[in-house]
Amino acid sequence: MQLRWTSIPLLLIFACATQAKVKTQMDEMLQHIAELKPFVTSPTKYAAPENSPEINSVLTKMVALSAKIKHDDKVKSTALQVPATAFETQLQDAQRVFNSGNKSYSLWMLRSSLSNCISCHTQMPAQSTSFAIRNKDQNLVNLFQEAEFLFIVRNFDKALEFYNKIIGEFPSNKALVQDVETAVIRKIFYYTRISRNLKDLAKSLDNDLKNKNLLPATVAIIKGYKEAANTIAQEPVPAMTTDAATRTYAEKILRKELAGGLSYEDSRQNLRNLRLSGFLYEYLDKHPETNLKPDIYYWLSFCESRWERGLQDSLPELYLKKCVTEFPSNPVAKKCFKEFKDLMIIGYSGSGGTNIPADVSAEMEKMQTLIETRNGK
Ligand code: HEC
Repeated sequence: MQLRWTSIPLLLIFACATQAKVKTQMDEMLQHIAELKPFVTSPTKYAAPENSPEINSVLTKMVALSAKIKHDDKVKSTALQVPATAFETQLQDAQRVFNSGNKSYSLWMLRSSLSNCISCHTQMPAQSTSFAIRNKDQNLVNLFQEAEFLFIVRNFDKALEFYNKIIGEFPSNKALVQDVETAVIRKIFYYTRISRNLKDLAKSLDNDLKNKNLLPATVAIIKGYKEAANTIAQEPVPAMTTDAATRTYAEKILRKELAGGLSYEDSRQNLRNLRLSGFLYEYLDKHPETNLKPDIYYWLSFCESRWERGLQDSLPELYLKKCVTEFPSNPVAKKCFKEFKDLMIIGYSGSGGTNIPADVSAEMEKMQTLIETRNGK
């Protein structure tokens, strides 16, 4: 059948409309985050009773918006769904705790919920925006928090400038060591997944090393990733155009993990996995109907666990859970479940033994039953 010229504009409008929906929601999100910023950056203002109605009203709007984002077609069919769901739950929790009166805990929860903005925005290559979010009283905010807000709203260019300053002017800028390390990690994510330029990453990290006052531990991290970036920049970009090619490449990179080994201290492997996760996100974006979905969730859990050791609602945990609940009859579901159990056991182990909370145990039992019933046991 010939495509008549009249159908072309229609197709274009259709394509733009889907994209435009997320974008409109994001513009709204930008507005809310701007309203919230003065409070998020100041525990005193966040806790002040006179600000409560305003904060609560913005939180209500954000919760509603996060529910809409979660149901967007594009978000539903890709790996954006995982941070989208976590974002909604965490915002709801932050608001509930806010209204119960525990303001400092609510602020902590709200801040951690914003890491979901970053999880979505760093999955794939993107252009930097040029939004700057100003406070009513700019002076109160430190450089690190400014950089984080710029990164959250995807103003990567400006955020990177600030992260470089945080690293380059330590310790006279009084930045916390932990913030310096986060700045390094943000740069690694940016150059690996967004600009996909590991040579530039190596250059940028080399520049950081000019600061001779960095702590030895920070220098070791930067040197490790600089060396890794230089090495991996030489490795060919895989042609992941089919399920088979994607599997071959992923299983090659994750050889050690799939055989049960794992060392978080290996910067080269950490970086290879980060690069792999970027390719996997893109593959899911381009092939939302792929049969490889449960495997991709399984692989992503290994890629992400190198960068995130959090437990509750951490990306590895959420991917594994999805693999089990959405694909219980697929052979990989059993592996996902085993990995999930291992994560929980490691996470809840301490000097007093393993102490898995009742709700987590109950959830694991449900997952196990689901796999067993679907596999005829
Ligand atoms: C579910 C994933 C997801 C979450 C969560 C998310 N975003 Fe986004 N965001 C996107 C996607 C996808 C785009 C790209 C939209 C496009 O250009 O088509 C985007 C784009 C943006 C943009 C750029 C819009 C433009 O005009 O170019 C801003 C600003 C933004 N998001 C802000 C936020 C903020 C602030 C948060 C958190 C409070 C957030 N987003 C949370 C997925 C997400």
